[in-house]
Amino acid sequence: MATATATAAGAATATGAVHPVLARPSGGVGWAIVDVLVVDHPLAQSRLTAMRDAGTDSAAFRAALHELTTMLVYEAARSFPVERYPVQTPVAPAEGTRLASPPLLVPVLRAGLGMADSALALLPESSMGFVGLARDERTFEPRAYMESLPGDLTGIPVLVLDPMLATGGSLEHCCRLLADRGCTEIIVLCVLAAPAGIERLERSGLPLRLVTASIDERLNDQMFIVPGLGDAGDRQFGGMPRF
Ligand code: PRP
Repeated sequence: MATATATAAGAATATGAVHPVLARPSGGVGWAIVDVLVVDHPLAQSRLTAMRDAGTDSAAFRAALHELTTMLVYEAARSFPVERYPVQTPVAPAEGTRLASPPLLVPVLRAGLGMADSALALLPESSMGFVGLARDERTFEPRAYMESLPGDLTGIPVLVLDPMLATGGSLEHCCRLLADRGCTEIIVLCVLAAPAGIERLERSGLPLRLVTASIDERLNDQMFIVPGLGDAGDRQFGGMPRF
């Protein structure tokens, strides 16, 4: 699956463009210095396009998100350590492969719920925790309304699922909850990331990497990603005033 590395600083220029300095020479997949991986495979980009299209209804939006999440998880999992074990085929002994340590999955409610089933389907041995956040549309800071996580995450890798990284406040809050429990390995899966959000996560110093289908241009004055796809929660589940 084709991917590209990128930096927050270079984000405004192109989705999927391989940064000339940071791209690894061994192939199209690798972590950039700032740990941002852009999955620019044509099948991923076609699902992203469906999600961007304002004419896509909720059912089709959710379907595209499910499929895109599968691709993001697939790419994120390239870096997972594996262990070998013996299996017997109908013909001969063979060496099997399994994940050494399946990650904890943490969808950020609401919008991350639409990524949960696809991630769990690819990682059936994983457990799932939940964080509920809603961004205050006046202050643009997240308000926490739910937290269901293991108390101790020492030695446990975590895959955080949230379609949108805008200002970065929500994901910084979520990742800090994880780090406070001892987690030292966080991979954030997003459909879209804004440069400002990536920069906020970088500044946080939290132990995370990011996998996304696009680094978009910017945020508008309502802190929506431009061009973006609107509000991923509303587009999946309907809009509702919450504060
Ligand atoms: C959206 C999105 C992220 C957050 C991104 O959720 O799913 O969680 O906003 O914004 P930020 O990077 O500026 O914090 P929202 O708060 O709209 O809640 P929802 O998922 O319930 O729709």
